[in-house]
Amino acid sequence: MAIPERFIDELIDRCDIVDVVSRYVPLKKQGSGYVGLCPFHSEKTPSFHVQREKGFFHCFGCGAGGGVIQFVMRAENLPFPEAVAVLAKQAGLTVPEDAENTAYRRRRETLLNLQRDAARFFYATLQSPSGAEGLAYLRRRGLSDNTIRRFGLGFAPNRWDALMDAMRAKGYEKTDMLEAGLLVEGREGRVYDRFRNRVMFPILSLRGDVIGFGGRVMDDSQPKYLNSPETPVFAKGRNLFAMNLVKNERPSEILLAEGYMDVIALHQAGFRTAVASLGTALTPEQARLIKTYAENVVLVYDADAAGQKATARGIDILKSAGLNVRILRVPDGKDPDEFIRKNGADKFAQLLRGTQGDLEYRLSRLPNAADHDAPEKKIAYLKAAAELLASVDDPIERDVYLQRVAAETDTTLDALRIQVNTARKSRDRSARREETRRTLNPVRNVQPAARELRYDNPRAARAEEGLIALLFFDPTLTQRLAQEELGTLFTVPLYAKLYSLIQNRIHDGGVLTPDAFAQELSADEASQLSRILARTPVGEPDRALSDYIAVMRQEHMKNASLQALIDAKKISGGQ
Ligand code: GTP
Ligand code: MN
Repeated sequence: MAIPERFIDELIDRCDIVDVVSRYVPLKKQGSGYVGLCPFHSEKTPSFHVQREKGFFHCFGCGAGGGVIQFVMRAENLPFPEAVAVLAKQAGLTVPEDAENTAYRRRRETLLNLQRDAARFFYATLQSPSGAEGLAYLRRRGLSDNTIRRFGLGFAPNRWDALMDAMRAKGYEKTDMLEAGLLVEGREGRVYDRFRNRVMFPILSLRGDVIGFGGRVMDDSQPKYLNSPETPVFAKGRNLFAMNLVKNERPSEILLAEGYMDVIALHQAGFRTAVASLGTALTPEQARLIKTYAENVVLVYDADAAGQKATARGIDILKSAGLNVRILRVPDGKDPDEFIRKNGADKFAQLLRGTQGDLEYRLSRLPNAADHDAPEKKIAYLKAAAELLASVDDPIERDVYLQRVAAETDTTLDALRIQVNTARKSRDRSARREETRRTLNPVRNVQPAARELRYDNPRAARAEEGLIALLFFDPTLTQRLAQEELGTLFTVPLYAKLYSLIQNRIHDGGVLTPDAFAQELSADEASQLSRILARTPVGEPDRALSDYIAVMRQEHMKNASLQALIDAKKISGGQ
């Protein structure tokens, strides 16, 4: 996994972050840096900043941030080593393969080969006498032989060791199969097949490698679906079921469904741009993946309560990725698969033509939307509708819906327009207030987005932040810290981690850039680092450093005496 740090340093040196980012979004010079519209969320005023000399980007709108490698990881939806490979290629460099690196690649290859051979085994089994029950089940659900072949569906026999024996015969080790999630380890170390007596849905990566499976029971037993666990080759949040097929369709519009069966039924009915998330809630990465291939997405989630909740969440995530979103509502509480089987593809195409924009959908979900005969219900609905309409920035779109709501509720256009304009003004006011607050109080900008990074002790945390930022601006300061033994004073684990990374880095003679720790930090952690670095540095570094250290010591002492007090109370049995 590890790529030599020397190489990363050289790579970062050769990559101008402004050039790299400019391939994705136009940037304008502003002050000492560059600004543009954030590629990671949709916005109308630029809050995306890039600093060439410091080598990082930061979005004040969505909080995304990091160095050039992290930018490529996000923009191309790639894991670290692959993002490095992309940049290296552009810079004309070859990524060195150290022993560890080679071992990691071999490991991945073994796992991918194993998953592919397992898929072949399941597929062959489905077509053999021992898969008869599975084949009958899939046919009963209306799947053609062609569809079964196209999706490579298979069957896991009703035995504890069918796959294990078949893969052992091909030379795979039990440890490989455990790591791939194909075997599970029971009590007393007994290992057995994870998937038994299930029809199998292989999950393929964009490149067409089998990376995992979903398996469905053929009756009503639980769990209905069993999915492969996360493995080194299977990241659920980064992949979509059937995306490998859809990407070749050059889709202008992608249908996003909830389940494997929905996707398969949709493809069979001729809707060949359907994908699904993999048994988990939709992630921002998946939304970006969709955006890589299409501008438009139609949500075709189940009509049940859970599906509608997922729809509301999905709209936000998809819109944030910059996609145009429409919502298809399947009538009679059915899912797309059931609907198509009952009513046919033409009827579904009709539904698709009648899809709602997300605004329409949101209007229809407001309280009293369906029943506003009583005056008080009507008023409540109109007020909520006006709020919603006020959030639409496009004046034409706003007017179209305004007229529709007025007509549908039998209200005068003027009255509704006044209501909407009032709501817009108050929105503008609070947006301006928020903007002012943000510029006047830069500390607010460093509130971590990720819950696990929330601070227990804000005063200490601010000092720790300042200290870390300072070290990035002037790494020579670390020398002054050598005698200070600050390691145990940190209250925020991320800053303690960064501090020790910085020290090791300096000690090894490496350079400090936001990308320096790309391999050690999660995306959230990297964003938090860029957030700290995006603040203007303080005037006198030496003085600031002393202040930060003083605060950290004070807070540490306070905390220690508080702890002593609590301990003393416990011992004396006090409340
Ligand atoms: P069918 O009953 O086969 O038509 O399933 P469906 O495609 O209608 O799926 P459903 O709406 O029940 O669930 C949607 C998706 O959630 C499935 O494709 C699975 O990925 C996942 N899922 C459903 N049930 C389970 C379960 O019991 N466990 C897990 N881990 N995932 C499930
Ligand atoms: Mn279903």
